[in-house]
This record gives sequence, structure tokens and C-alpha cells, in this order.
Amino acid sequence: MNCRCSLSLFVILISCVVLVFDGSHVVVATDTLLPGQSISGSEILVSKNGVFELGFFSPDQGGIIHYLGIQYTNLIGSRPAKFWLGNKVHITSFLNATLYLAAGELYIEELGSVLWTSNSATNGSASAVAVLLDNGNFVVKDQTIHSKVIWQSFDHPANALLPGARLGLDVATGNNISLTLYKSHHNCTLVVDQSRKMGFIMFISGQGHLGTFPDWMVTYKEGSLVQLNYPENANDLEFMKLHMGQVSLLRWVNNGTITGWKPLWSYPSSCKISAFYCGAFSVCTSKGTCACIDGFRPSDTNEWELGHFVSGCSRIVPSDCEGGISTDVFILLDSLQGFPDNPRHIREETSEDCEARCLSQCYCVAYSYDHPMCKIWYGQLLNLTSANTTLHTEIYMRIGSNGKRPRQHGQLVILVIGPIVAALLVMLVLFWVYNRSSKQTKVEGFLSVYSYAQLKRATRNFSDKLGEGGFGGVFKGTVAGPTAVAVKKLKGVGHRDKQFRAEVQTLGMIQHTNLVGLLGFCTEGTRRLLVYEYMPNGSLDSHLFSEGTSVLSWRLRRRIAIGIAKGLAYLHEECRDCIIHCDIKPENILLDAEFYPKIADFGMAKLLVRDIDAALTSLRGTVGYLAPEWVYGQAITHKADVYSFGVVLFELISGRRTTGNMRFGNHRYFPLYAAAKVNEGDVLCLLDGRLGGDGNVKELDVTCRVACWCIQDEEIHRPSMGQVVRMLEGVVDIELPPIPTSLQNIMDSDDSRIYSAEG
Ligand SMILES: *[C@@H]1O[C@H](CO)[C@@H](O)[C@H](O)[C@H]1NC(C)=O
Ligand SMILES: *[C@@H]1O[C@H](CO)[C@@H](O)[C@H](O)[C@H]1NC(C)=O
Ligand SMILES: *[C@@H]1O[C@H](CO)[C@@H](O)[C@H](O)[C@H]1NC(C)=O
Ligand SMILES: *[C@@H]1O[C@H](CO)[C@@H](O)[C@H](O)[C@H]1NC(C)=O
Ligand SMILES: *[C@@H]1O[C@H](CO)[C@@H](O)[C@H](O)[C@H]1NC(C)=O
Ligand SMILES: *[C@@H]1O[C@H](CO)[C@@H](O)[C@H](O)[C@H]1NC(C)=O
Ligand SMILES: *[C@@H]1O[C@H](CO)[C@@H](O)[C@H](O)[C@H]1NC(C)=O
Repeated sequence: MNCRCSLSLFVILISCVVLVFDGSHVVVATDTLLPGQSISGSEILVSKNGVFELGFFSPDQGGIIHYLGIQYTNLIGSRPAKFWLGNKVHITSFLNATLYLAAGELYIEELGSVLWTSNSATNGSASAVAVLLDNGNFVVKDQTIHSKVIWQSFDHPANALLPGARLGLDVATGNNISLTLYKSHHNCTLVVDQSRKMGFIMFISGQGHLGTFPDWMVTYKEGSLVQLNYPENANDLEFMKLHMGQVSLLRWVNNGTITGWKPLWSYPSSCKISAFYCGAFSVCTSKGTCACIDGFRPSDTNEWELGHFVSGCSRIVPSDCEGGISTDVFILLDSLQGFPDNPRHIREETSEDCEARCLSQCYCVAYSYDHPMCKIWYGQLLNLTSANTTLHTEIYMRIGSNGKRPRQHGQLVILVIGPIVAALLVMLVLFWVYNRSSKQTKVEGFLSVYSYAQLKRATRNFSDKLGEGGFGGVFKGTVAGPTAVAVKKLKGVGHRDKQFRAEVQTLGMIQHTNLVGLLGFCTEGTRRLLVYEYMPNGSLDSHLFSEGTSVLSWRLRRRIAIGIAKGLAYLHEECRDCIIHCDIKPENILLDAEFYPKIADFGMAKLLVRDIDAALTSLRGTVGYLAPEWVYGQAITHKADVYSFGVVLFELISGRRTTGNMRFGNHRYFPLYAAAKVNEGDVLCLLDGRLGGDGNVKELDVTCRVACWCIQDEEIHRPSMGQVVRMLEGVVDIELPPIPTSLQNIMDSDDSRIYSAEG
């Protein structure tokens, strides 16, 4: 295809392809892969008895991410069971994914890069074949040595075990087989307990719980292996599944009135023993039954009727949130005993700020406020118990509103307050006229010290608002004659006067051409203001994303990218105390008269919060620019800035918000699409359509590669900002970046879909 394809045309073409293939898998009419053979895209293998099929499947109907897996061919139910293979490597473009067999080894390849191998090659296994057996086991057999099995899927279960498969240590092969699951801040593992016959240990986020398999369910083998028995009636479909905090033996029920997986055995056997039994957004009541919390209903009513609750509950009205814009509302939940696990703690001045923060993050599901701490929960709430006593907690749950926002009381307030404000204004003007005569500006260190009255005057009573950042409003003003300045009114008091002065002096010493310079400050009573140089061309977002303004050329965009990188490199590596910015986004990149970029809002946390941990958690990272470790509440390093910078690079390239509601290819998220295109060597397609292809292909390729490296999931894979500068300037060569795999999970704001993708 011509490379100057418009993105939208491309999107339409790809969607058509997907529609044609979706749902109707192409059957390769065989159960066997011979050496050199492969299946791709929607092709599948089918076992001889027709019960199982193997191919690339999505955990959710119509989902983007696919894994290699095995499923029952004819189960038309709401939650078909899937048995994942290949370490659950994420396939982002399954039409271009291939499973092939070469020299006794299985490979999963996507767009030419190998994502997984079975590592099963042995001597002389060139003639080995791979067969999907009637029991759902996918085996690689060496034809030369009596069909010796050299690899089998039963030895590598993800979180589900079919009859005939084993758990524990296979002494012959040295395989130690266990079930594992990661989901929503928790991890869960089921291992055989070697010290007790038929015993097992279930670890939930590190806490171990001892259980025992019933005799009728498993057969005890030598060593400590247990094998799951085949069902008595050969036509029954049964398997063992590890859910978060629960393991069950399930049987498929379909008797005309009800279809679903019915538990024949579960551990724990009731929610009184462990509330994980009830699934997400569901509480264990004082009667020992599971019940959905307000605003939620059972995700699968059939399974609830069958006594299987781990599928939990989902919102009755789905959440509506896209790129931080949401019409969702919050309802009070005051029946829980204790708080759910793993909240993020953030300092906020009011509960409204806490609520606003949750609302702006699509994957935030609940908050609770106790001045000055705002607790926020992401993903799923699990392990909930209802309170027996008056000692309950108050949590606000996010629910959908069908697009209807609650009514605002704004107009009434204006009517009442209006005349009072007007009177105050008149007084202020009189005060200003009276006060205007005296007062010279003092200087402390590098910085000017202003009085509040001076700054009020300079900004004509804060009348010309330039913007509102996380730390307060910014107003245009004029000081010392004709010098234009930007005055930031900080929200929240933070440090005492003396400490504040000290911190401000430190900030004042940070001077770099790509950082917005601090000129002065004001501290009076509880008021804290900072005076910065004024940047006539405003912030990058206004030039990049709005329709009206003239389009930034590729040359300017590249210069801006390098400038931001240099500014960040200085903050991270060159100033005396390493500073993590924590909120890199186009709104915080300002442009001077010649469109040279300068980074704003650095070092703010230290000014406002006393200890550094609280400082980090109080920062307002912005959805869409947050590194995965940030989203999951792990420690933040300067590599979080590198991630955000990568997202900004993508926006410089495409001229669009990465968080916007649009599709690129079969990716909803531009960086994923871009990563694929970089690997194909087809980068001009990624350039902002408004530039009509007017960009330097080499520079574009370099910029795309750097961006992909910056958004790698693992911090250690991301380059430092110093390296980024050298890469962007073309001083060093850059390898092809891998496609970051977990991106889709994090970016997909439809959280109920992501987190139900446990399969
Ligand atoms: C990906 O798959 C689609 C549909 O089969 C095909 O048109 C396209 O050429 C493939 N891309 C690559 C890079 O193989
Ligand atoms: C593979 O076979 C060769 C000879 O056929 C032998 O020398 C070598 O040790 C074998 N390697 C392994 C790992 O069995
Ligand atoms: C098998 O793995 C589990 C957990 O990964 C461990 O506790 C157990 O000791 C292992 N067993 C053997 C025999 O290595
Ligand atoms: C599982 O959770 C425990 C406890 O939170 C943690 O120590 C461990 O590192 C986690 N394991 C993985 C593989 O994430
Ligand atoms: C179907 O199975 C369910 C659960 O086993 C049972 O409650 C129900 O009575 C059955 N219905 C019929 C028509 O057999
Ligand atoms: C589940 O909740 C119980 C009771 O609230 C608590 O003791 C336990 O630590 C929780 N389990 C996990 C893994 O968080
Ligand atoms: C909860 O209340 C019931 C009945 O009031 C009582 O029997 C039970 O002991 C209470 N449980 C706890 C944990 O307080």
C-alpha cells in the first residue's frame, strides 16, 4: 500500500478484515502439525474426537489481545473455558500471528518476531510432530524414539487443569507443575504440598492457605504428583480451575433451563472461610452468602444459581469513561468491614478533589476520603466482607450514569454570591489605587520576593488566567515595568514560611534553556505564589491538538522533542538533587516566542509536601501518560518520566491524543499501532495527516523507535533521558524496539473487560 495512506482509510480497511474473520475460525482439518507446518491467524487444529480446538483466542468476545489456547469446540455459553498455552504471551495482531513446529520445537511468532518457544528441541527431534489429543493435551512427539513425548501442554497449565493432567513434581522430567493467576493487584498460586498426602497450598499474594484434595477427585502418584481424574461419565465436561483465591472442580451443566459451570468441589468451601469466594465487587454477608454491592449485579446469573460466585459482579450501568472524561457518578457504600486491599494513598485538600481524581482515571473504581488522605482503588475490589458491627467504613463506588450528570448548583451560587463579589472587587480596586505608590521589590538569592499586593496588582487581580495546573491556577501579569510573567497561585499550604523559602531557593537555582525559569515568589500567611517567565506561545497541547491553529512542521516538532529530552535529562542527571517531574504531558511543555520548548511544573511536590514518599503519592500524574509501575502503585523512579515522554513523542508524531477514542489498525491505542508499524519499517503512515507526508523518514523512524523504547513495560528496558537525547540527535544507532505487551491492559479504559480477562 502507498505509504501516504490516510490513517482513517487504513482503519476502515482493517476493520473490514477483522469483521470477515471474527467468529468464523478457519479449520485446518487436522489434529497434527508436521515439521515445518504452521497455523496462523484464525486457523485452528481440532482434536480427532472433535471436542477440543487449538488456536489464537481472545479471553473476551471480540477482544483485541489474543493468546494461544485450547478450548471446547461446541460450548456455546457465556463463559467458555479456555486453557492457555505459550505462557499466555500477548498477541496484539492475531491475524499476523503464527504457531509453527520446527525441529521438535514450537514457536509463536507475530509480525516476524518470535514471542515464545517451547524449548523442547532434543537430539534428532527434527521429525517430531505436534498433536492435539482427544483429552485436550497438545503434545510434541519424537517419532524416532517410540513416539516419546518431548513436550506437552499438560505440563504447563496456566490456571486450569483438564482431567488427565497432573500437579506437583514430575521426577522423570523435573517439571514442577503448579497453577498460577495474576489479576488486579493480587497473584494466586496453587502448589502441591509435599509434606501432606493429597495436600496443596494456595498462595494469595504471598499468604499461604493449606487445603486437601478429595480422594474421588484426584489420583495420588509417586513422589507428590496428583493427577486429576477423568469424569465417571465420559460425556461430562469437567476441569479444575484456579480463580483469584479459590480453586474449583467444575462441570458443564446444560439441562434446558440453565447453562454454566457448576462447582462439584470448591476450596474454600464458603465465603466465611475466605471472602475471595464471592468474586469481585461482591461481599460475604453475615449470613455467609454472597451478594453484589449497590449498583452492581451478578456477572453471570446462571453460575450464581449454580452456586458458583467467583465470576463476581459487574456494574448495572456500565462506566462511561474515555481519556479521563467521564459521566460516572459515585454512591456511598457503608456496609463493609474494613477497607479493601491495596488502596493508593494521595494527599488531597477536600473530598471533592479526591472524587475528581478518581473520576479522571478510568480504571479507578472507588475512593474514600479522610482529611487529608484520599484513598483510591483501581481495578477490582476483592475479598469484601460486610460489617457486623457499627465499625463500618465509608467508600464511594464509581457507577455509570447513562451519560446523565448530576445537576450542578452553579447558577444559584452565582446569583447569591455575585453582588458580594462585586462589592469586594470595588474595595479591592480602591485598595489597589491606595497601595500602588510605594513598595520596591526585594531580592533573595537569585529570586525576587514579592508581596501579595504586588502580585495581585501585577496580575490585575488575577484576571488573566493562563491555565489551571495540578498545583493551582496560573495568571498572566506584568512586573518591574514591561516584563511579562506568569504567576502561579499554589493550592494548599505545605511548608512553613522558612522551609518554603529554602525550597524555592533550591528551585530557583535550577536553570536550563529547556526549563521554565523561576523569577520570584511570594509567601504571606497561608499564601504561596511563584513567579515564572512568561511563555508567549502557550502550551504544546494547544498547538498540537486544536484544529484552528497553524500546524507545527515536522522540523519544529523534532526540535521540540529534543528540547524536552534535554530539559528532562538535566532534571534527572545534572542538577544537584535528581528531580522526577512526574507529570510530563503536552500541557506542561511551554513554547517561547521562537517555539523553543520549556518544561513547566517541575519540583512542585517538594514545595508542598513534607516527606518525599508523600510527595510522590501526592503528585498528579495524568491518565494516559502514566507508566505501568505508577498505575499499580509501585515505587516511582525517573524512568516514569521517560515513559510519559515516550507518550508525548507519539503525540508529536501523530498530532493526536493517544488517549482519544479512535482506532488505529486493529489497535485502539496509537503507540501499539505505531510499534507494529515501526517493526514493519512503515513509519510515514504514522505522521500527522495534516503535514501531508512532509517529514524526514529517517528522523521519523528514529523518533518512533525512541518512543517505543520509552514506553517499554519494564523500567530497565527504557533508556535514560541522556540516552534519549543522543538517540534523537542521531548520535547512536537504535535497535528495533519490541512491542510492549501489557500496554493494552493498562490503556483500555473499559476496566470491567480487562479485569474479567482472566480466562
Ligand atoms: C497482517 O495480516 C493481514 C490480514 O491477513 C495482511 O493483509 C497483512 O499483510 C499482514 N501484515 C503483515 C505485516 O504480515
Ligand atoms: C546428540 O547426538 C550426538 C551424536 O548423535 C551426541 O554426540 C550428543 O552427545 C547428543 N547430545 C545430546 C544432548 O544428547
Ligand atoms: C515446586 O514449586 C513450589 C512453588 O513454586 C515450591 O514450593 C515447591 O517446593 C517446589 N517443589 C519442588 C520439589 O521443587
Ligand atoms: C505475588 O505476591 C507476593 C505478595 O504480594 C509478592 O511478594 C510476589 O513477588 C508476587 N509474585 C509475583 C510473581 O508477582
Ligand atoms: C437444571 O439443573 C439445575 C442445577 O443442577 C437444577 O436446579 C434444575 O432443576 C435443572 N432443571 C431441569 C429442568 O432439570
Ligand atoms: C482477605 O480479607 C481478610 C479479612 O478481611 C484478611 O485477613 C486477609 O488478609 C485478606 N486476604 C488478602 C490476600 O488480602
Ligand atoms: C456477627 O453477628 C452475629 C449475630 O448478631 C453474631 O452471632 C456473630 O458472632 C457476629 N460476628 C462477629 C465477627 O462479630
